[in-house]
Amino acid sequence: MLYRRMGQTGLRLSALSFGAWVTFGGRVGRSEARELIAQAYEAGINFFDNAEVYARGEAERLMGDVIADLRLPRDAYCVSSKVLWGSVQEPRPTQQGLSRKHVTEACHQALKRLHVDHLDLYLCHRPDPETPIEETVRAMDTLIRQGKVLYWGTSEWPADAIREAHKIARAQYLHPPSVEQPQYNLLHRERLELEYAPLCAELGMGTTVWSPLASGLLTGKYLDGVPADSRFTAPGYEWMTRTLADAPERRPAQLRAFLALAGEYSCTPAQLAIAWCLGNPQVSTVLLGASRQSQLAENLQSLAVFERLQEADLRRIESVFAR
Ligand SMILES: NC(=O)c1ccc[n+]([C@@H]2O[C@H](COP(=O)([O-])OP(=O)(O)OC[C@H]3O[C@@H](n4cnc5c(N)ncnc54)[C@H](OP(=O)(O)O)[C@@H]3O)[C@@H](O)[C@H]2O)c1
Repeated sequence: MLYRRMGQTGLRLSALSFGAWVTFGGRVGRSEARELIAQAYEAGINFFDNAEVYARGEAERLMGDVIADLRLPRDAYCVSSKVLWGSVQEPRPTQQGLSRKHVTEACHQALKRLHVDHLDLYLCHRPDPETPIEETVRAMDTLIRQGKVLYWGTSEWPADAIREAHKIARAQYLHPPSVEQPQYNLLHRERLELEYAPLCAELGMGTTVWSPLASGLLTGKYLDGVPADSRFTAPGYEWMTRTLADAPERRPAQLRAFLALAGEYSCTPAQLAIAWCLGNPQVSTVLLGASRQSQLAENLQSLAVFERLQEADLRRIESVFAR
């Protein structure tokens, strides 16, 4: 495994990490979850990502249970939660958002579900226009001072809002956000490369990037229709099929060219797509998702592919989708 600093912090995260979205608490049951976490940990993964909203708290409960069951040493792995949308089906006003009340209570609930006494990373899952940024910064700072959170951050906040949070924190000697969690893959590059890149340089933010395979699209498995055992058919996630309609006139040709390119590099499309993400030095860790062990085993090999890639290869790979 390769380890990278999370921005300018001293935290060293595995360059590949593992998340629970769609899978845990859905199609992935307890025994598969246990095997996936064990497999990830044995490969050197030290960061497991989660959120209050994933399967309405079930994903955290399952991850917490299997990590406890595996008796992973608490100081050898990091775990996150994300707050905003709540963990109940129809959240009341105080059960969602980034108010001091919800940020605090959601943290306490995540600690219980994950069976830990602190969250290594605690992220605001999106901005909350109904809460002043200062209130959220203060709530996060309090949780850090109480030892319940080690690092806090954001996910898909506008760069200006992140700058504002830093300004408030600097002026009042509070802990600033130190990590952003954006989507990043060959089909979705602008936000990280244009909007967040200056933030990483100016503010020392790290990034834990998500959906390196664009939910599986980059494996090419949706080229001939939606496989019955895929996430696009998972209850509540049918909206994802809309992503198949993106650029319908160009996408299939691009994907076929990408599959051919993976063949040239003697790897699978998934491995090439993940290796390409690792090629961006502003990426602290690439969050993998997998619904079965064979996928995780395949995706872990992307590290070896990354080691073979030169700058020119990275440009060649991304050029496939620029056409
Ligand atoms: N902050 C946020 O807003 C946010 C949003 C999304 C995700 N995330 C985090 O990022 C993590 C990763 O995102 P993601 O799950 O969307 O990542 P992804 O890598 O884009 O998609 C993973 C899915 O692709 C399929 N897959 C994976 N490897 C494959 C392979 N080798 N061959 C064929 N299919 C493969 C599997 O779905 P099938 O079951 O269909 O096979 C798997 O669950 C999440 O778990 C979550 O922790 C954060």
